[in-house]
Amino acid sequence: MLTAKISAIGCAVPPRVLTNQDLEKMVETTDQWILERTGIRERHIADQSTATSDMAVAAAREVLASKGIPAAEIEAIIVCTVTPDMMFPSTACLVQDQIGASGAWGFDLVAACSGFIYGLTVAANLVMAGSHRKVLVIGADTMSRILDYTDRATCILFGDGAGAFLVEPANEGEGGFIGHLNEIDGSGAPYLNMPAGGSRLPASEETVAKRLHYVKQEGQQVFKFAVRKMYELCEALLERHGISPSEIKLLIPHQANKRIINATAERLGLPPEKVVLNIHKYGNTTAATIPLATRDAILEGRLKKGDLVLFAAVGAGYTAGVGLWRWAF
Ligand code: UT7
Repeated sequence: MLTAKISAIGCAVPPRVLTNQDLEKMVETTDQWILERTGIRERHIADQSTATSDMAVAAAREVLASKGIPAAEIEAIIVCTVTPDMMFPSTACLVQDQIGASGAWGFDLVAACSGFIYGLTVAANLVMAGSHRKVLVIGADTMSRILDYTDRATCILFGDGAGAFLVEPANEGEGGFIGHLNEIDGSGAPYLNMPAGGSRLPASEETVAKRLHYVKQEGQQVFKFAVRKMYELCEALLERHGISPSEIKLLIPHQANKRIINATAERLGLPPEKVVLNIHKYGNTTAATIPLATRDAILEGRLKKGDLVLFAAVGAGYTAGVGLWRWAF
């Protein structure tokens, strides 16, 4: 049966770094609190002239350059984001135009922190259906545009960035996509959202005055759900494929909180060398954490052709997803 492989990666983060010490000057917080409660030391923040499509384009161009292929070969572009440049047209349209992907269709996928895993699932299925040969999945978010820098409970958590994978058909024996398990649970909507700016609460003087165009989160609720769900889905997917956690070479989880990642790894019995953790450098970049963590694993020589990789994420919605792949390059 035809399967799909990840064949290239590209990433982009804005140059400006916002450290915990910088945040100490902005809100009532400490480096120690942030580090102990989240694992974050610093995050990258886009300058005023940079929007989500700019970072997405940079990540996409890196993919094309590393594969040495023209943009015209891309057949579909999926941009996973909760911070599109604008409500419409989609960021995928802006990226398609900027990179010159003259043969592509595409769309934005809104699944917050699980976006990239959902995007990979869609891309894998487009390829396995035999209808597409080159699908670009991009996770890109400019979280700093929707953060309230007077709210210490949320502004310390997030950063900006983008990452992209190319998904293509796999040749016999090359590995690639093995399986996924994705879920939504909309009862979690009240606990992590951006209340205004949509059709329920369009922008008005009142929504601005009430600071409703920013991320609102009940951290503990989301934390408890994430710890339980990330482990449950990992375990269920591995069991479905008859794979024991010890066979996994790397768990590449969404980077929302070091404590969520450690709890998941511990329950799966995975030692730290099998878990990718780079939240200290980037914070939570929402849809971009998984490609950014994958890129770091590659640069550190921790991910090689043939390795079994488990991607896992939980986020606003609630959304949750896990994907099992055999690394193919
Ligand atoms: O990626 C999308 C999914 N999102 C997540 O997965 C995030 C899940 N949630 C979390 O990661 C954690 O809940 C947080 C890191 C957001 C918060 O950690 P926590 O251990 O749940 O802290 P908390 O919200 O229970 O707050 C504990 C205390 C509170 O003070 P009191 O009420 O005990 O006096 C907060 O006001 O910490 C206080 N606090 C802070 N203190 C210093 C909250 N934020 C800060 C801060 N600096 N930045």
